[in-house]
Amino acid sequence: MTLIKILKFAEEYLTKYSFSKPRLEAEKLIGHVLKLDRLALYTNFETELVLEDKEVIKKYLREMTRNKLRFEDLVLEDKGDFKTSNIELLNKTIDYLKEKEVPEFKLDAEYIFSNVLKVNRSFLNFQLSKKIEDNDLKEIKRMTILRGKYRKPLQQIFGEWEFYGYPFLVNEYVLIPRSDTEVLVEQCKILLTELENPKILDIGTGSGAIAITLGKEVPSSNVIGLDISDEALLIAIKNAELNITKNVVFQKSDVFSSIPKGTEFDLIVSNPPYIPLDEYENLMVEVKKYEPKIALTDNGDGYFFYEKISKEAGEFLKIGGYLAFEVGYNQAEKVAFLMEENKFKLIAIIKDYCGIERVVIGMKTGEEDVDEIK
Ligand SMILES: C[S@@+](CC[C@H](N)C(=O)[O-])C[C@H]1O[C@@H](n2cnc3c(N)ncnc32)[C@H](O)[C@@H]1O
Repeated sequence: MTLIKILKFAEEYLTKYSFSKPRLEAEKLIGHVLKLDRLALYTNFETELVLEDKEVIKKYLREMTRNKLRFEDLVLEDKGDFKTSNIELLNKTIDYLKEKEVPEFKLDAEYIFSNVLKVNRSFLNFQLSKKIEDNDLKEIKRMTILRGKYRKPLQQIFGEWEFYGYPFLVNEYVLIPRSDTEVLVEQCKILLTELENPKILDIGTGSGAIAITLGKEVPSSNVIGLDISDEALLIAIKNAELNITKNVVFQKSDVFSSIPKGTEFDLIVSNPPYIPLDEYENLMVEVKKYEPKIALTDNGDGYFFYEKISKEAGEFLKIGGYLAFEVGYNQAEKVAFLMEENKFKLIAIIKDYCGIERVVIGMKTGEEDVDEIK
């Protein structure tokens, strides 16, 4: 039975028993059982309900009619004092994370509860009125200790994180996709709008966040994601499957080493390891202990990959093709200079949501050939 059918059934059932606002009552009841807010019921109306949910809905309907109670009153009777004790538990979790000096202690506690209770963070308050099952309590505790005592990043505790609205599996072998990188993806999308079947190369693909997102957002494109790490490539492949992406492939490569000479792309994009070694030493524990060093630093001044890629990219770009980099907070100017040195034109620097210069883009115009003839 689909969600819309059970909604209709519940409405008719409550109408028969002379409930006022039977549709609203039916929506509240079904939303409660399926852990969806009322509006979300209508975006999921074709979802097939599992037997267990149908039985719970029927049980509530019977109790509502038998006791002549609106749904909210029934749940209030039902829930005893769960809310008070659950909020107490949430506050204890917040205090514990604060004591352990977790930077976003309140937010992280809410994320842990939402993840375990499988509810969007904005509906957590509502969810806290319900009993938290014993295995969920254990899971909350386990995650809180990992986050507080061991300072493991939430993304790795959950094993999955969202980037540009898509889910990405993450583990200790890949950089956790950052929201800063969404700015790079956004700019790449703009560059590709006019092109029919753009060919894209993503160097240092990690979880595949950039390659897969571009593949999804520009379905006519063909994307190759490169990485030197076998373990990262395994995760990238799983992420392509998770996101049902058919136009993205991954291959092992030390920068351009696996790309045959003569192959040309419309866009080469890279978020390379760019943290200078001396800054790497002082990174917060979450990053330094849990994220792969190979994804973070070039073991030098932070410019190794910008220099190498800027120097070699011209050979693998069509005329009119673009090179787009994510850069560290103070690197944009030098990277723009490196690109200019390597004959890239129309260099643009784009800021992220915090106003930090985050993306540098240049175009291969072919003008260097003209200079040579002169
Ligand atoms: C900063 S992470 C970027 C990951 C992902 N593209 C993102 O934006 O979330 C850099 C990636 O470059 C990879 N990498 C490091 N050295 C490399 C090399 N010589 N050739 C190719 N990839 C390399 C690392 O394994 C890591 O996955």
